[in-house]
Amino acid sequence: MIVPQKLPAYEYHINPDLTGINWQRVLELFQKINWKHRLAEEIEKAFGMSTTTLFIYHGDIIIAFGRVVGDGRYYAMLADIVVDPDYQGQGLGKYLVSALNAQLNNYHFVNLSAAPGADRFYKNLGWKKQTTAFIWPQGPKQLRQHCEKD
Ligand SMILES: CC(C)(COP(=O)(O)OP(=O)(O)OC[C@H]1O[C@@H](n2cnc3c(N)ncnc32)[C@H](O)[C@@H]1OP(=O)(O)O)[C@@H](O)C(=O)NCCC(=O)NCCS
Repeated sequence: MIVPQKLPAYEYHINPDLTGINWQRVLELFQKINWKHRLAEEIEKAFGMSTTTLFIYHGDIIIAFGRVVGDGRYYAMLADIVVDPDYQGQGLGKYLVSALNAQLNNYHFVNLSAAPGADRFYKNLGWKKQTTAFIWPQGPKQLRQHCEKD
């Protein structure tokens, strides 16, 4: 897994002290990309339960983040790969995915659920569609967006 060079204009923090994170800003970014229905306190708890977190800053402002949910050894899932739309197209998304994946050597399963429209982004980075994956849909929207028709 080749991790792209960091861009000098930004700061990258892997597994930072989460008490220093501006969760309102994280919430704002989720809202900006239309992943709504989240609460800052719940986001903070969820990131706290993650095995790896990665935040990218421009000055004091968080402009991108991502995380891994896993058991520390066998199973890991990349989640919440988000780049502020004002900063997209500079390689930050690619960096997040590659840097998180680089933490997962020797795991037995590394996977993720792509958001609708992000298939090509992951395929370009070398990820493969998993033929054996199953999902327990959490409502009709997920059924529509993430499930085969059968
Ligand atoms: C998907 C996302 C993380 C990409 O971030 P980004 O910083 O703009 O991506 P990069 O600049 O690193 O792009 C890397 C490559 O992927 C391509 N790419 C970026 N977004 C893409 C998309 N949605 N579909 C297809 N290709 C895409 C870029 O053109 C680039 O190609 P190149 O290497 O040939 O130049 C960002 O658009 C985002 O946060 N979207 C909203 C949340 C989301 O969908 N997250 C991912 C799904 S879980």
